[in-house]
Amino acid sequence: MTVLYDQKELILDQSLMTKTASPAAAEIRAIFDRIAPIYDRLNDRLSFGQHQIWKLMAVKWSEAKLGDNALDVCCGSGDLALLLAKQIGISGRVTGLDFAREQLAIAKQRQMAKCPTVPMEWLEGDALALPFADNQFDCATMGYGLRNVTDILLSLQELCRVLKPGAKAAILDFHRPDSGYMQTIQQWYLANIVVPTAADLGMKEEYAYINPSIDRFPTGTEQVKLAQAADFSQAVHYPLIGGMMGILVLTK
Ligand SMILES: C[S@@+](CC[C@H](N)C(=O)[O-])C[C@H]1O[C@@H](n2cnc3c(N)ncnc32)[C@H](O)[C@@H]1O
Repeated sequence: MTVLYDQKELILDQSLMTKTASPAAAEIRAIFDRIAPIYDRLNDRLSFGQHQIWKLMAVKWSEAKLGDNALDVCCGSGDLALLLAKQIGISGRVTGLDFAREQLAIAKQRQMAKCPTVPMEWLEGDALALPFADNQFDCATMGYGLRNVTDILLSLQELCRVLKPGAKAAILDFHRPDSGYMQTIQQWYLANIVVPTAADLGMKEEYAYINPSIDRFPTGTEQVKLAQAADFSQAVHYPLIGGMMGILVLTK
């Protein structure tokens, strides 16, 4: 199902704008710097390795191809950027951007081990003020980043600005399911599996923020409206695992 939008018909609900309010960016950056040493291990453990499959889906839906100039926003320790690099090959180029220095340091080390031949750049920068000229990139990804930026609309506007006309972006993130039953499962999983597992590694508070951040995060339908407001010509939100995750696929 593809949802096409007429810009003139969009009336952006004010509640969508207030729903994007979140803790200050400096606090978010500090959390991600602190959790950098355990971040990959915990992701693998908590998702039973499934996050790699969802990330592969995001790369596929970004339509990354050989030779592309690709961007991964909020790249963290580099999972999606490294998957993009495998798709794009040595004739392409991948840029990973994040504002957490410790995450970028790990991304660089992983690139040396996993993908040393593909041209890759790791940039410390802000998803709300991307340090690129307009119409630069053939495709883009963002994994678990949109929920964490302090201004979702601005982040989408920036992403749209730097993509070439017709280029695609795929944005993977948590999502609050519509079904009350699935919501209960998700909340139980976060409270009884994620937080205690993180607590074992001394990072309880750093992971306790996930549940409230999902509450603040716009639903798939709301994300689609925000993407329309950000000037994307097409947007569709695909729910994954019963709506507990989702991928927002956008076309400039
Ligand atoms: C949950 S991590 C996701 C990392 C990686 N994409 C992944 O899927 O594993 C979210 C990342 O977003 C970054 N981030 C949040 N807000 C940002 C901003 N305004 N600019 C750049 N990076 C940001 C954080 O530093 C963090 O590394």
